[in-house]
Amino acid sequence: MLKNFWYAIEFSHAVERRPRKVTCLGQDFVVWRRRGGQVSVLSDLCVHRGGALSMGTLAGDDRIACPYHGWEYEPDGTCVKIPANPPGRGIPKKARVDAYPAVERYGLVWAYLGDLPEERRPPMPHFPEHDDPAFRAVYWETTIEANYERTMENVVDAAHTPFVHGTSFGNPDKPEIPDFEVTQGEWQAEADILLSPPPPKGLWSLLRSGPRPEHVVVTNGWYLPNIVKLHVRLPFGDLILYDHNIPLSQGRTQVKIVGYRNFFTGKWADGNAIKRIAKIFEQDRPVVESQRPELLPFDLSAELHLRSDALQVAYRRRRQQLIDQGWWVGGDDLVMGDVPRRQATVIASPARRDNPELARAWVHKSRGTDSTNGTGHPTGNAGGAGGAAAEAAGDLRGEHS
Ligand code: FES
Ligand SMILES: [Fe+2]
Repeated sequence: MLKNFWYAIEFSHAVERRPRKVTCLGQDFVVWRRRGGQVSVLSDLCVHRGGALSMGTLAGDDRIACPYHGWEYEPDGTCVKIPANPPGRGIPKKARVDAYPAVERYGLVWAYLGDLPEERRPPMPHFPEHDDPAFRAVYWETTIEANYERTMENVVDAAHTPFVHGTSFGNPDKPEIPDFEVTQGEWQAEADILLSPPPPKGLWSLLRSGPRPEHVVVTNGWYLPNIVKLHVRLPFGDLILYDHNIPLSQGRTQVKIVGYRNFFTGKWADGNAIKRIAKIFEQDRPVVESQRPELLPFDLSAELHLRSDALQVAYRRRRQQLIDQGWWVGGDDLVMGDVPRRQATVIASPARRDNPELARAWVHKSRGTDSTNGTGHPTGNAGGAGGAAAEAAGDLRGEHS
């Protein structure tokens, strides 16, 4: 799991005033909408006794009150009220939780899960279809009992379509994948791949005109840290899916899909589009859940790769660079949920660097190894926060060696 990226953590339409728990990178967060409409994202763990802030209530304009002893936190994570304290007693500086920068884009709430200052954060991907009036979006989500990198790789893997999807998407009579070029940038990669299409069925067959083409060009791609794109050029229009593979834990993933189409753009056809997306996904589910090892190997030679696996190989190589850079959180040895743990750890937020005087005083230790100075070399004590982060990470060290 990679920290220091923007993650889409929830659909915008699902976030209301009421605090709500979301999970990503194996950590719980509370998200709520402020009076002015902006969204806020905090670590869900109260620093007092670990109450879940998502079970709390809103207080004042924009504060969240812990359900246990009523401590009130501002959206920036500072505690401003401790009801048990007699009047006049100060609030400890350490009474604060991590707050994560949050924005809304493409119908999703995104949170920056890391502590890098703005100028060093990787960009959010660009989805041009969202603002193009020719396209209409549908939203669908599901949870799968598989590691998020397995579900990600599945989508950019063109060679499985004739076998897993039969005639609903692939063409079992034409399973060859002609060689393709991967275009890669720092944060994404994609490739145009020729697939033999099956005949359209159901509602969409109404749009069919002329003879069936020999091939359709499918664009497959990934955007770090967890998004995959599938662009299918059908004879009658474009279908573009962006899948957000949200790691709930090592072995569970929530997949949120935004699907754009520029045909049948009426609301009446939304249900049909969602049904098709869900049907394809349900064909993938049993295969992806069956993959072993459950977690994607770190060693490239642990599995056999073909030319048609070029996008996955590009992903694994890029991921290794980021691991070497210290951006990996949670390895094989990090067990979530079913083992009692005495230490609460959270992803370090930017405030840890902004408050050097608090560097060693954060109540919740930061998870993962230290961030880097951008050169790929761990800094050890960058910005004051690094030292504490590195110390706290001691129990996770060596997880990917
Ligand atoms: S646990 Fe949150 S106020 Fe006590
Ligand atoms: Fe698939």
